[in-house]
Amino acid sequence: MSNISQPWHSVRKSTLHGNGVFAARDIPAGTRIIDYGGRRITSEQADAMHPVNPDDPFHTFFFSLSSGKIIDGGNRGTDARWINHSCAPNCETQENTAGTRVHIMALRDIKAGEELFYDYSLIMDGKITKKLQKQYQCLCGNAECRGTMLALPKKKTKGTNNKAENEKSDKASSSKKPKKQDKDKAKVKAKVKAKTKAKEKAKDKVKAENKAKAQP
Ligand SMILES: C[S@@+](CC[C@H](N)C(=O)[O-])C[C@H]1O[C@@H](n2cnc3c(N)ncnc32)[C@H](O)[C@@H]1O
Ligand SMILES: [Zn+2]
Repeated sequence: MSNISQPWHSVRKSTLHGNGVFAARDIPAGTRIIDYGGRRITSEQADAMHPVNPDDPFHTFFFSLSSGKIIDGGNRGTDARWINHSCAPNCETQENTAGTRVHIMALRDIKAGEELFYDYSLIMDGKITKKLQKQYQCLCGNAECRGTMLALPKKKTKGTNNKAENEKSDKASSSKKPKKQDKDKAKVKAKVKAKTKAKEKAKDKVKAENKAKAQP
């Protein structure tokens, strides 16, 4: 019997973090595995929300669309919300042309039982400090691991031999039109921003509660 209508994936505990999503059968490269579902909210609504888990305030189920809207995977979300990050992923996210949906696509052939990953490449406003990188620490353990789920600025290649390469990179970064990569990264910008604000709010709340408790 054909298993064409069966899901490509299943959800179970991951050795990396909490729940993870795994290939339920062999998945060919280029397969649209699942969509990132959930309620569409504004960034203001996201900012106003409390962390899903106050003990892990940087945990997030938000996925920002290029329109500025956010998909809240924690509300009516699909299993895609359980996909963990890797710096050497076997999947990528793709926004549809209308900018309303996000597909999880297989980057290569994936064997049944393999955990599915995409690179979150989270973008932050302001300087990417060591502290920030640590707060979004990546535990993927790959040789290519950059140590954080944040997107890091590309390092310039030094030396006259790479002049052409450097000029190319300068041109690209000064272009007014966002490159595909920039656009993709921009999608997750609000996601982190919202979560950071939520963390600050949670901290303020604990401070206020402690202060109240300390009152005679
Ligand atoms: C959308 S959830 C993914 C599902 C998650 N495993 C869970 O059970 O909730 C994203 C969160 O998972 C954690 N996470 C995912 N990939 C990670 C990684 N490579 N290293 C460390 N934590 C990770 C982080 O807390 C992140 O904010
Ligand atoms: Zn990593």
